[in-house]
Amino acid sequence: MDPRPVGFFDSGLGGISVLGEALRILPNENFIYFGDTLHIPYGDKPPQEVLRYSRDAVQLLLDQGCKAIVIACNTATSVAAAQLRAELSLPIIGMEPALKPASLLPGDGKVLVMATRNTLALPKFQSLMERFGRDAIPLPCSGLMECVEAGELSGERVETLLEQLTAPYQSENIKAVVLGCTHYPFLKKTIARFFPADTALIDGNLGTVRQLGRRLQEEGLANCGPGGQVTFLSSMEGGEPIRQMQQMLARWKNA
Ligand code: DGL
Repeated sequence: MDPRPVGFFDSGLGGISVLGEALRILPNENFIYFGDTLHIPYGDKPPQEVLRYSRDAVQLLLDQGCKAIVIACNTATSVAAAQLRAELSLPIIGMEPALKPASLLPGDGKVLVMATRNTLALPKFQSLMERFGRDAIPLPCSGLMECVEAGELSGERVETLLEQLTAPYQSENIKAVVLGCTHYPFLKKTIARFFPADTALIDGNLGTVRQLGRRLQEEGLANCGPGGQVTFLSSMEGGEPIRQMQQMLARWKNA
């Protein structure tokens, strides 16, 4: 039994959608969540810069005594996961757009992959495309993350943006939409309204958290409780970012 916390990080609030799943699936574990609000967005920055921020985030979580790390961000995973695993010996769990499960769904429609520009351009996704992307359409979604950061999970701004982003695909037969950025599951209900009711909306959150659970067991790092404690940290000073993270977790739990 290992009572040390599991560290999560993202560029901002998005990874809280993964944390929310972890609290549900791994109730004996405690967590530290770091939002790198000062350096958001990761999705449009040069990869070398995102690598530097990711290294700093992991170091901060190690300094807090974390026993494992979840990179709760598709972009940071694409940029930094392989490098960080080569440098460190603790379990590092990453994320990728859930193209594999989406492509394996029955039916002959297309799979729309919504993610950041970086995630879709980097080699990790390119190799995923080679294996499972026969029917995939990558869709960079600049601006969506900003709506989540502003707490706008529905309403005019996000709907206008989604209208513009999805308009070119309205005549396509889309069988699944992959939410390939951890901010987007917060918008799931709003995004669903732009597609027929039988379109599957898939994210990688549950798979990531199950993988975390497996790794903790394998490495003898699992805790037997009491769990459920979350400490929020931000790279931005002041109480406001922490308050926003707490609010977002509450919204996730009530969704
Ligand atoms: N939440 C992050 C992801 O999963 C990206 C958001 C950003 O652009 O910073 O890709």
